Amino acid sequence: MAELSRRAFITRSSAAAGGLALGVAAACSGSDDDGDAGSAGGSGSGTTAEARAGEPFDPADWASVRAQFPLRSDSAAFSAYVLASHPAPVAEAIARHRAGLDEDTHAYLGETETDAETAVRDTAAEYLGAAPAEVALTDSTTMGLGLLYAGLRVPAGREVLTTEHDFYSTHQAWALRAARDGVVVRRARLYDDPAAATADDMVGRLMAQVTPATRVVAVTWVHSGTGVRLPVRAIADALAAANAGRGPEERALLCVDGVHGLGVVDAGVRDLGCDFLVAGTHKWLFGPRGTGIVWGRADAWGQVDPAIPAFEPNSFGEWRNGLPPAPPDGLRFTPGGYHTFEHRWALAEAFRFHLDIGRDRVAARTTEQATAIKAGLAEIPAARLVTPTAEDLSAGIVCFDIEGTEPVEVVGRLAGAGFDTSVTPYADEHVRVGPSIVTTPEEVDGLLEALRG
Ligand SMILES: Cc1ncc(COP(=O)(O)O)c(C=O)c1O
Repeated sequence: MAELSRRAFITRSSAAAGGLALGVAAACSGSDDDGDAGSAGGSGSGTTAEARAGEPFDPADWASVRAQFPLRSDSAAFSAYVLASHPAPVAEAIARHRAGLDEDTHAYLGETETDAETAVRDTAAEYLGAAPAEVALTDSTTMGLGLLYAGLRVPAGREVLTTEHDFYSTHQAWALRAARDGVVVRRARLYDDPAAATADDMVGRLMAQVTPATRVVAVTWVHSGTGVRLPVRAIADALAAANAGRGPEERALLCVDGVHGLGVVDAGVRDLGCDFLVAGTHKWLFGPRGTGIVWGRADAWGQVDPAIPAFEPNSFGEWRNGLPPAPPDGLRFTPGGYHTFEHRWALAEAFRFHLDIGRDRVAARTTEQATAIKAGLAEIPAARLVTPTAEDLSAGIVCFDIEGTEPVEVVGRLAGAGFDTSVTPYADEHVRVGPSIVTTPEEVDGLLEALRG
């Protein structure tokens, strides 16, 4: 959605942006003080990766990290919240598996499947601080949410609580469920002005809506319409108090759409304290396009009924022996059928890429740039920040408005100047930028220079 809009805006606004582009090119193609690669704003053709071809990957060097991506060097990709470009280790793994499957499909599948899928689960678990069997593999956040919210047991008389700030995928997954079996879904409003949101107020507003009837609390870690990051740990703690004395079938379960936190925030699933974390791995984690995960706490998986049979030995054995399916875990919740295995299996390399760089360093790099963007916006009289300035209430997404100019127009002008951003795909539209490990502090300076223009 956002991407389509952006293209339309580029066309509409390119003439208006012409002068701006020249200014930004100058701002962005200057010296590279800390050795960061890549510069937006029409400073040349080709890619950073090409420029550094042949050099070994050094995860401690941000220029080397950036050089792993074949992204154009004349456009800064402030859009990690949409879909990933594949870094070299991921692209190489995809190419290797694809060649194997193309050359001798059946044999390669037989030789590779078990070990490759185990490697994906092990690496994901290492990154998440989880047990491998707790991790289910999916194609996207939306697939994970759809399967989870279709399958969670919500007994008669119990309800679901979500919020006004979640994305389409959460809202509609519950709307489809409500249409199917009449489950009651309510929505809490966690803030009126996102920029002024506080952790205590958000937890208080959510918990005020939790009643003994609440069976599921379905929230989003980082709101893609405002950039607000929820205090998931504080919500989990408050919910644990409300759940005290209840058995697994009675507890209210905390489910989180984590797609804009995974690969950005330095936190594992035990830090978050939720019961389920659902995320695509093809945005901030820069994993293969068409991949995602559902992590479930070992003792929470029993509260879900899978919809798609898993292709895994125990489930298959039950079928062959005429037995009913056993309760799920991450393996049994993974939808079966043959997949684009070259992408699925290359997910191990994406988690490894982040582990090699360091989850904490990725978070610091993203936060540093997001904070610089917020500080720069604060000095632009027409700019109104939508995302909180507090680093613990935000992540990589920064949303803002420019008074007197429609978000669509701002995004179009930025595109013309070599900065890929978008309009939030919600009824309340804002300009949205997403600094990440593929953008640089110099590109942040260029973005702000363009906005000042
Ligand atoms: C909060 C949120 N959840 C889910 C999605 C969809 O993610 P996926 O493409 O992995 O289904 C998006 C946007 O793409 C989003 O903003």
